[in-house]
Amino acid sequence: MEPTAAVKKIRIASAKSRHFPQFWKLFEKSFPKDERFSLRVQKKLFGKKGYCAYALFVDGKFAGLEAGWQFPKFNFVGFLALEKQFRNKGIGTALLRKETAAAGKLIVLEAEPRQKSAKAKRRIAFYKRLGFKLNSGHYAIPDYYNKKAIPMMLMSFARKLSKKEFVEVRLTIHTKAYGLDKPIVG
Ligand SMILES: CC(C)(COP(=O)(O)OP(=O)(O)OC[C@H]1O[C@@H](n2cnc3c(N)ncnc32)[C@H](O)[C@@H]1OP(=O)(O)O)[C@@H](O)C(=O)NCCC(=O)NCCS
Repeated sequence: MEPTAAVKKIRIASAKSRHFPQFWKLFEKSFPKDERFSLRVQKKLFGKKGYCAYALFVDGKFAGLEAGWQFPKFNFVGFLALEKQFRNKGIGTALLRKETAAAGKLIVLEAEPRQKSAKAKRRIAFYKRLGFKLNSGHYAIPDYYNKKAIPMMLMSFARKLSKKEFVEVRLTIHTKAYGLDKPIVG
């Protein structure tokens, strides 16, 4: 497969979409339980303004998923995962290069701190190669099941966030994407 293999994104607008079963199976396989939402929450999210979920296809085959939120000031890439057989072929790089070039606004994503695992370190290196910067401010996400906060890092493209932006971005993600009453600030 060429590293520039074209990735086709198909929007999933509801749990009734014919691509949703593949999307959901990969979602459950790819992310730890405490870092992903339940099917009940996923169904509700389809009705929320700004939430976008996609099935990714390469050469006509289901290859991965992407889900996130488009906010007025930034896009938030919440989840990106490829099926194992499609990883390490340049597909993630090609997809994100296209998206960062087209967005015309800040793009933000969450990454586990690099000291958490070798995988976390690799993922941060992957996003850094694409031009994302690590922000040092306090950031955590709610644990969907244990109601604890999980420490994370915020990465942003194509530059670091100012302190003011960091606080605004955190507020927007926590209240709009996670539905919290107030942000987790430390
Ligand atoms: C992370 C991911 C989207 C990257 O897409 P990709 O097409 O495989 O990446 P590319 O081929 O363009 O680039 C390869 C780089 O991806 C990263 N990567 C690949 N597999 C990975 C894995 N299982 N875990 C963490 N990072 C991985 C590495 O940085 C790798 O470079 P390296 O081999 O020099 O370390 C994809 O590997 C994946 O789905 N991983 C599992 C799910 C995940 O970790 N999602 C990110 C959290 S939202």
